Amino acid sequence: MVTRFSSISTKNLSNALKTLTIDKSVVATSDYNEFHKMAKRFLLRNILGSNAQRRHRHHRETMIENISSQFHVLLKEDPLRPVNFREIFESEINGLAKKQALGEDVQSIYVEGLVIDMMAGIIEVDWRDFFPYLKWIPNKAFEMIMNALIEEQIKRIDSGEEVNCYLSYLLSEAKTLTKEQITMLVWETIAESADTTLVTTEWAMYQLAKDPTRQDRLYDEMRKVCGCNKVKEENLSQLRYLDAVFHETLRKHSPTPLVPLRRVHENTQIGGYYIPAGSEIAVNIYGRNMDKNHWDNPEEWNPERFMDEKYDPLDMYKTMAFGAGKRACAGSLQAIFLICVTIGRLVQEFEWRLNDGEEEKVDTVGLTSQKLHPLFAILKPRE
Ligand code: HEM
Repeated sequence: MVTRFSSISTKNLSNALKTLTIDKSVVATSDYNEFHKMAKRFLLRNILGSNAQRRHRHHRETMIENISSQFHVLLKEDPLRPVNFREIFESEINGLAKKQALGEDVQSIYVEGLVIDMMAGIIEVDWRDFFPYLKWIPNKAFEMIMNALIEEQIKRIDSGEEVNCYLSYLLSEAKTLTKEQITMLVWETIAESADTTLVTTEWAMYQLAKDPTRQDRLYDEMRKVCGCNKVKEENLSQLRYLDAVFHETLRKHSPTPLVPLRRVHENTQIGGYYIPAGSEIAVNIYGRNMDKNHWDNPEEWNPERFMDEKYDPLDMYKTMAFGAGKRACAGSLQAIFLICVTIGRLVQEFEWRLNDGEEEKVDTVGLTSQKLHPLFAILKPRE
């Protein structure tokens, strides 16, 4: 997929989906063309590239502090009550996505005489609920919200106020884009930030809560590397076991089990197979990560397999979790920072144990291997 990208970089969408995504005005679904290159460049420059991630670092630090302090508050109220990991993580990561995209964690907005709750607007119940695989298409309420936010932002720019966010950047820099295209691009960053990051972090915390020995090993590694300090992004390169926990979770619980369909536009060969032009291919990441020919005991969650010399900690292709080639995930850097630092902090600060009956709850739902049942765990603050 990396070497053949020029012949398999286009995503195929039906005519209906093309219309609904305003002729594929979203980085993840657009064809591999000038629009895609321009939109991905904007996204990397303003939010997801390494310089942009440095500028947004304070949002990530605030998010992780908020998560930790909310767990502490819940434990003070009732130390024995199981905590719902997802409820807290999801609201914080949505807040982070909104700050990066819109400049603030917009909670509600006044549109045509109504006050609309922002997240309720995004996930408004409508026809998408009958077609769960189309959940990612923005709805009318979101378009109304975005129109109101765009008007607000234009007024701010006209008055000379500087806001470091994607919407403001697109309005000032992307003069060739229509309002509808800007709406889609901004919406994309909010919709794509949360799901896969939540899925990976929740499964990692489930596995660590189930396995006190491995949890202790991770805690000991952080004591050695960070001492009494809170784990930070700059520590990640020294935390080999944390990296192994991350990759093993991506392998066992592939957050994107299938790479979205690619259309092959010239005859090519992949993995020894001849693929004629016009074919559609779906790469089965889950299948590959569960293949006994590639992995010993693939059903087992075993981070130690990534401590082996043969795995390079910087190799992003070992589980193919972020895809590959020109269409590889644009958000992998943000995902690594958020997921690894969150796991590290939560294990530094609390001992995790699964709530009774939790171990068996391993069913998944949706396109992203999300846990069907949110993780409930018993937490004990560490000394
Ligand atoms: C653990 C977290 C994540 C995983 C496992 C993941 C996985 C993937 C995969 C498999 C693809 C398709 C790659 C391909 O076709 O080869 C993709 C594309 C993409 N992802 Fe992620 N993703 C994650 C987090 C994020 C985040 C936080 C963002 C931020 C908004 C993001 C934005 C995107 C975008 C924009 C694309 C489309 C890239 C393109 O078509 O050029 N992802 N991701």
